Amino acid sequence: MADKAEIIRMLNDDLTGEVEATLVYMHSHFVVTAHCPTQMEMFDIALDEMRHIEWLAEAIVELGGEPELTPRKVRYAASDPVAANRRGVELEKEAIEQYNAHIAAIADPKIQRLLAHIRDEEVDHLEEFEELLEEAEGPDDRKPTVGDLSGQSKAGE
Ligand SMILES: [Fe+2]
Ligand SMILES: [Fe+2]
Repeated sequence: MADKAEIIRMLNDDLTGEVEATLVYMHSHFVVTAHCPTQMEMFDIALDEMRHIEWLAEAIVELGGEPELTPRKVRYAASDPVAANRRGVELEKEAIEQYNAHIAAIADPKIQRLLAHIRDEEVDHLEEFEELLEEAEGPDDRKPTVGDLSGQSKAGE
């Protein structure tokens, strides 16, 4: 089982993943303007990730460690909703896998409970992104506009 220094290192790994997820989802919230549900959900999930940052940083400080807030090399998603939700699915799957590994490696029941709680929220996020991805990938049933029919773009585009 991991000693205190190893636990701090694992929690910091989790923390940098949360910082990356927060930045990626905030970015998607700003740039994905073509699909309103994705844009809204990105903001809500980014807020959850910020809470995870808070909980992990508190646990690290409690163990005598220093929270590392420098993100990994951040890979943002493109501005289309399919790409944004695919990136969300990818980040959540990575996070779930990492939390499961850390829950198995850390014996401290309080930290295990914290990581399991965060992991369960990542499972919810994964489901949200998978649903949004399906919706964004779905058939284009948008009604044609006058602009489409006349070959002109709508005002403001
Ligand atoms: Fe998270
Ligand atoms: Fe998440």
